[in-house]
Amino acid sequence: MPNKPVLSLDTHLLASHVNDTDLSKLQPNINHVLESIEKKTCQGNNFLGWLDLPNKMQSQLEHIKTIAAEVRERSNVLVSIGIGGSYHGARAAIDFLSDPFLGNDKVIYLGHHIGTDYTMSLLDFLTNKQVYVNVISKSGTTTEPALVFRLLLDRLKGKYSDDELAQRIITTTDAGKGVMRQITDAAGYRSFIIDDDIGGRFSVLSPVGLFPIAVAGFDIEALLAGAQDMADYCLDNNDVLSNDVLKYAASRYVLYQKSKTVEILSSFEPAMQYMGEWWKQLYGESEGKDQKGIYPTSANLTTDLHSLGQFMQEGSRFLFETFLHLEKSRRTMNIPSVKGDVDGLNFIAGKTVDFVNQQAYQGTRYAHADGGLPNMTINLPKRDEYTLGALFYFFEFAVTVSGLLLGVNPFNQPGVEAYKQNMFALLGKSEYEERRAMLQKKIKGEE
Ligand code: PA5
Repeated sequence: MPNKPVLSLDTHLLASHVNDTDLSKLQPNINHVLESIEKKTCQGNNFLGWLDLPNKMQSQLEHIKTIAAEVRERSNVLVSIGIGGSYHGARAAIDFLSDPFLGNDKVIYLGHHIGTDYTMSLLDFLTNKQVYVNVISKSGTTTEPALVFRLLLDRLKGKYSDDELAQRIITTTDAGKGVMRQITDAAGYRSFIIDDDIGGRFSVLSPVGLFPIAVAGFDIEALLAGAQDMADYCLDNNDVLSNDVLKYAASRYVLYQKSKTVEILSSFEPAMQYMGEWWKQLYGESEGKDQKGIYPTSANLTTDLHSLGQFMQEGSRFLFETFLHLEKSRRTMNIPSVKGDVDGLNFIAGKTVDFVNQQAYQGTRYAHADGGLPNMTINLPKRDEYTLGALFYFFEFAVTVSGLLLGVNPFNQPGVEAYKQNMFALLGKSEYEERRAMLQKKIKGEE
């Protein structure tokens, strides 16, 4: 028997849109999908390596922890360079686990965009710092990280000797094929391997995520333990009504069939903002193809209740919402009583701030349900590594099931190439001359 899952799904506020009969009707499709995952016969079956990562990574844990300890001891800061799946997971995890102001400032991020001011500011910030660099790129050919790595190297060359610099650069890349592997071998950098059968957005539990998370000081063993327990749970029970991961995937599918085409991942915790970014990539890239898929977006509450809240409550009804609900804050803060009650808040004096946040969550989900915004909740007991590992795996398994239910390959992303082709053409890369001429005509308004 697998351990009882640390997360739970509450779907009762979907009731007027998704019922047990709807879900049960999907059971044969779910059985088929699960069998195709287990037998590795599903679409994209050469990208199922993430399924075993919690177990497979055990043999690398000590190595990752040893290098992470060296980085912590010999530097003020690790610059983590990567984009998309080579960026979101680590950032989501570190933000989820950190104390926002007194916690992590060990890992900073570069290469997830091309903004000059951010990049120059970060390079200037490094001037008086001892630095290590983790370049994360499976292909090594992604423009954004490759560009900033070149810029950063140029800066660090004046700061460290060649040998010292080589010691301070650690790459995370594929085993043999990519450009970053060639760079790594030629320069003598140390490196971690991303296996060929793991796509970027499913790589957070590989060294892509584990190394920066360990450098930030978090317990990657507990993270993998949470993921392993969730993996066992996912495969132990194929009943769509009682397995929360399958229920989440199937409920989304039913909602999509009923024209609910946008899912909002909402949380009342600032620490979960980047979890939303990771989730958006995972769900958007996995499902959004062949003119199908639910558009994933995220909301940070209560902030967004003061902006998007109006639309959520009363706007066009193509939305549904999934709350990531933290059951208890780490710290407790009591609200004081004020003489004269000038701000009118004495009615909550003596309560905790978390109590207020919990009532905001309860009030919002019932208001949204009443307004015709169906919603469900994933309950998280705490903000810790074990819970986070379980959550990562929950979402990865669920999107695989729901992508396969939709009939798409959850593991490719052909659509992300279009902008790159245009960008290369406009930048003057060779072999893109024809596209360049065509684009320039469009830009001039001739076509
Ligand atoms: O999910 C994906 O595959 C993408 O988001 C990639 O991770 C992203 O494009 C970065 O690719 P790479 O690691 O090859 O630089």
